[in-house]
Amino acid sequence: MTPVRRQPAPARSAVLRREAVLATVPVAVAALLAAAGPAAAGTTGASGAGDPYFPLSGNGGYHVGHYDLTLRYDTATRHLDGKAVLTARATQRLTRFDLDLHGLKVTSVTVDRAAAAFRRDGQELVVTPRHAVRAGRAFRVTVAYHGTPKPVTDPDGSPDGWIPTDDGAFVAGEPQGAMTWFPANNHPRDKSSYDFTITVPEGRAAVANGVPLGQRTAHGRTTFRWRETRPMAAYLATATIGRFKVERYTTPDGIQVYNAVDPREARAAAPVLKKLPSVLAWESRLFGPYPFRAAGAIVDHAPDIGYALETQTRPLYDSAPDIGTLVHESAHQWFGDSVSPTVWKDIWLNEGFATYAEWLYAEQHGGDSAQKTFDALYARPAGDELWAYPPADPGSGENIFGTPVYARGAMTLHQLRRAVGDRDFVRILRAWATGHRGGHGTTAQFVRLAEQTSGKPLHGLFHTWLYTKGKPDKA
Ligand code: ARG
Ligand code: ZN
Repeated sequence: MTPVRRQPAPARSAVLRREAVLATVPVAVAALLAAAGPAAAGTTGASGAGDPYFPLSGNGGYHVGHYDLTLRYDTATRHLDGKAVLTARATQRLTRFDLDLHGLKVTSVTVDRAAAAFRRDGQELVVTPRHAVRAGRAFRVTVAYHGTPKPVTDPDGSPDGWIPTDDGAFVAGEPQGAMTWFPANNHPRDKSSYDFTITVPEGRAAVANGVPLGQRTAHGRTTFRWRETRPMAAYLATATIGRFKVERYTTPDGIQVYNAVDPREARAAAPVLKKLPSVLAWESRLFGPYPFRAAGAIVDHAPDIGYALETQTRPLYDSAPDIGTLVHESAHQWFGDSVSPTVWKDIWLNEGFATYAEWLYAEQHGGDSAQKTFDALYARPAGDELWAYPPADPGSGENIFGTPVYARGAMTLHQLRRAVGDRDFVRILRAWATGHRGGHGTTAQFVRLAEQTSGKPLHGLFHTWLYTKGKPDKA
């Protein structure tokens, strides 16, 4: 089994496409805003959530509690019509705030039913409500938009967002792509519940997160409704569209499973998907109760995309997954989805854990021991890409899905396991998943938890394996 996920070849020339500023604001309003300058300071929401790797991702000044997304996609013309209703709460007085939206044309924005002024500035949709929103108040933003959604290209060269396929769209959003199909506070710091109402041509299916609330066909179109009630980061939302064979059942633990499989992948996917309930049960025994009510898989036929994504409750695969990939994306439901990173720099808390879950699964299912996997990696020479940078300090957004994050991240957990023993290691993993369930975690919190749970000083181990450049000496 390969311990590292397939990664698309980096295309370093690719940069985040920046739209030209769209002048949609009447001149008088724009002039007013410009004049507001210093006086407005302290009442405008920040244009980013403060993430050094993706400074414009997310926004300041408010928290989104719920997204209600109504989408209609024409697979032939690739046209998307969207309406997003965001229920938010201001964390400061807001005379102005941003949403993230890349491409598409916005036709109207209202804040608490009053028309709001708006303009585009790259990925920022800048909204000026008619009346300032008072600190601590709940408010509702409605954005009507349409156009041909296009993915962004991530710093590592991967397509991200709404990615058209030959029969619909593969919709993935890590780390930035959510903003290619809905206006969002696009950073994992802000987690929200979601409702989706997605209309597609009859014969196609639209698959999102959480539980299905039903579907209706009329006039050659089918509308699918989905609901995710547990907090979800925008990057984990999906609305994948295509021709799918659907399979539904409930596990003995009461988890509602919904699998959507492109018929071209059905034969290869079947033996692996059959194992989903036992994989989830195995992971639940190890990590604690499964954090969601729904589960499943979306197996698309778009192998050029080159990656899978742990979309909440229902991972998205670009082709039939192997068992390692299924175990990996399933483990992310605990590590990444339920417990989310606060900054992208901490991505090893997602990828190192999901990779180590693969090692543990292999070890307990007749494959290599984790020690053997560790040893094979450790044998790589000092110049290998595995040692190119430390997992908890990848340096930039270009490196967040690189081998050091996945494989050396998993090696760090293996070193932790060896230092504290199996029993405490599992206690640490469970306490992490349980203690931060539905929320966030940081590397510093994980280190503290590991030390508290084991009663051992582990600072040196983590310092070496997570933060020190180059190949570590073996302890
Ligand atoms: N989190 C995904 C996984 O480990 C990988 C996403 C890669 N995304 C990207 N833009 N390179 O399965
Ligand atoms: Zn992963």
